[in-house]
Amino acid sequence: MALTDLLLFLVSTTAILYVLFKKLLQKEKSKLNLPPGPKPIPIVGNLHQLGGILPQTAYGLSKIYGPIIYMRMGQIPAILVHTTELAKEIMHNQDLVFCSRPALTVLQKYSFNGCDVAAAPYGDQWRQLRKIFILELLSNRKLPFFRSSRQAEVDQMINSIRTRPNQDSPVNISDLMVRLSSSIVCRVAFGYRSEGKYGERSRLHDLLEVGNAHFDTVFIADYFPGFGWMDWFTGSRFRIERNAKDLDMFYSKVIEEHKDVHKRGEDHEEDFVDVMLRLCKEEDSKITNDHIKGSIMNVLVGGTDTSASTVIWAMTELSRNPRVMKKAQDELRSIVGNKGKSRRK
Ligand code: HEM
Repeated sequence: MALTDLLLFLVSTTAILYVLFKKLLQKEKSKLNLPPGPKPIPIVGNLHQLGGILPQTAYGLSKIYGPIIYMRMGQIPAILVHTTELAKEIMHNQDLVFCSRPALTVLQKYSFNGCDVAAAPYGDQWRQLRKIFILELLSNRKLPFFRSSRQAEVDQMINSIRTRPNQDSPVNISDLMVRLSSSIVCRVAFGYRSEGKYGERSRLHDLLEVGNAHFDTVFIADYFPGFGWMDWFTGSRFRIERNAKDLDMFYSKVIEEHKDVHKRGEDHEEDFVDVMLRLCKEEDSKITNDHIKGSIMNVLVGGTDTSASTVIWAMTELSRNPRVMKKAQDELRSIVGNKGKSRRK
């Protein structure tokens, strides 16, 4: 398509959609008893009013329009609430109505169309997957099973600091923590051991980093469903498709390796993927390969940055507060002593 044809196409589609939206807005307004809010402009809605730091912008709007505000994110209607009572009403009293996440492009793509805990709408499938997560991965009962994995990865990280060539050089704790938490999560979830020198990047880490960046990308389709094709023009849709395909290949390889009993040996430790494959074989099981892949994604994306940020935040606060740092160090030394390692679970 030539550039002029494309421009003509864009202008005419925009004009038609403008008329349609205007009619739609008028119709909706007359029917619904909507909360107050800033006047949306055609097509864009209130998107242009959401710049800056979002919580501060939202606070400013609440000063003008009150505790409950109606806005339009492009074509998508949205409600902002500003009081604990209203938040409780939504998150607690009306939880079942509001708990499903919106089917955003990036979440749908990386979750194999909702075959995971984060993107699946509330229902039987979500309940089943969540139960597996809680019982097999996140419960206190499981903590001792993963102890050796945690210990091995922490040892590797400490060694990398201890044996770094220039002992006076500063250590980038943030990088190390991201690497440590992703290595622990990979080991626990599917027995993936970090190879090469500590701190060297693996192909999986690269794919995950790109994936994480996509979670921050704005896709036009999410705010203007009729304009999803534009994401192909901007290239963002190509990029997410390519990365998701590479991740899919990685997950498929992990699943195939787990199915190969000969390669793994009979006495290997059962990891999260083993558990899911076992449940897959049960009679009446609704778990498919896509559910296993979506769950691996949940573990990788949900478990890495969250755990790393928690430690980075704690370390930053400790270094800003020498009194508390000393207290933490004394407490650690009283437990670990000269043993080099804590034996606590
Ligand atoms: C310090 C570490 C962690 C923090 C602070 C954290 C925080 C959170 C928060 C706030 C949510 C709710 C998000 C929302 O409702 O939109 C959430 C959900 C979730 N987290 Fe974590 N998380 C942590 C560790 C982990 C780990 C280690 C895993 C997996 C191995 C994990 C997997 C998940 C999953 C799958 C969900 C979605 C659950 C659902 O929709 O029901 N998280 N996490």
